[in-house]
Amino acid sequence: MDRWTLYEHCVQSPRDACDLLLRAHGGAPRRLLEDFAGSAAIAREWTRRGGAAVALDLDGEALGRASDEVSAVRADVMERAPFAEGSFDVVHAGNFSLGYLRERATLLAYLRERRRLLAGGGVLVGDTYGGRNAFELGAWDRERFLEGGVRVVSTWEHRRADPVTALVENVLHFRVERDGELVARHPDAFTYRWRLWSLPELRDLALEAGFRACDVFPDASGPLAPGAALDPDFSVALVARA
Ligand SMILES: C[S@@+](CC[C@H](N)C(=O)[O-])C[C@H]1O[C@@H](n2cnc3c(N)ncnc32)[C@H](O)[C@@H]1O
Repeated sequence: MDRWTLYEHCVQSPRDACDLLLRAHGGAPRRLLEDFAGSAAIAREWTRRGGAAVALDLDGEALGRASDEVSAVRADVMERAPFAEGSFDVVHAGNFSLGYLRERATLLAYLRERRRLLAGGGVLVGDTYGGRNAFELGAWDRERFLEGGVRVVSTWEHRRADPVTALVENVLHFRVERDGELVARHPDAFTYRWRLWSLPELRDLALEAGFRACDVFPDASGPLAPGAALDPDFSVALVARA
C-alpha cells in the first residue's frame, strides 16, 4: 500500500464527506469542484453517486488516481480557473487545505473567485480544526483494521505550532502490521505547513468575499445549533452559502 492508499483508509471517509456536502447544500447539487483534491477520493465518490466532478490539485501524481469519470485539472487554486461563472453547485476544500492560503488577501481572492464559480444556492465547504490542543505539540495515534489481518496505525503529529502567527506544521506517519507483525513504516508520509485559520476569521472572510451566510457543521447530521458547544478539540466544516 502506498502512502495515498493509506491516507484514504486512515484519514478520509468519502461517503461521509459526500453526505455532508449534500446536507450542506440542501437541494439536489450535481456539479462538484474538489479543490486541493489530492487523489480525488471525494470527487470519485461524487461521480459514483451520479454527479459530475472536477478535481483540481497541484500534484499530478496524486491526481493520477482520479477515475475516468472525474475531470482532473492540474493547477494552482490561485490561477484563474477555466470555468464559467456559476459552473458548480458545490466547492469542497478538505482536510484543512484552506490553510495553504496563508495570507488574508490570498484567501479572500480565492473565496471571491470560488463564489463566482458557484451557482445560486451553491455552497463552498472547507474545514478547520481548533480548540484546546490546536497549538500544543504532540502526536496522536489512530488505528484502522483492514481486510487480511492488516492493522494500520496513523500518527498525527503537531510538530510546530506558533500561536502568534497561527502557522503550524503537521505530519502524518503510517505503520502497517499484518497478523501482528510490522510490514511497512511510512514516517513523514505527508507534511503540511498551514495557517490555522480560526472559525471567526473564516466566516468574516467568506462574508467579505460575497457569500451570504456561513454555517458550522460538526458532522454530516447538520449545522451547529446556535449557542451549542463545540468539542474541546474540534474539527468542523464551514459551509459558506452563495
Ligand atoms: C491535505 S491534502 C488534501 C487531500 C484531500 N482533499 C482531502 O480532503 O483529504 C492537500 C492537497 O492540496 C494540494 N495543494 C496545496 N496547495 C495547493 C494549491 N495552491 N493549489 C492546488 N492544490 C494545492 C496538495 O498538492 C495536496 O494534494
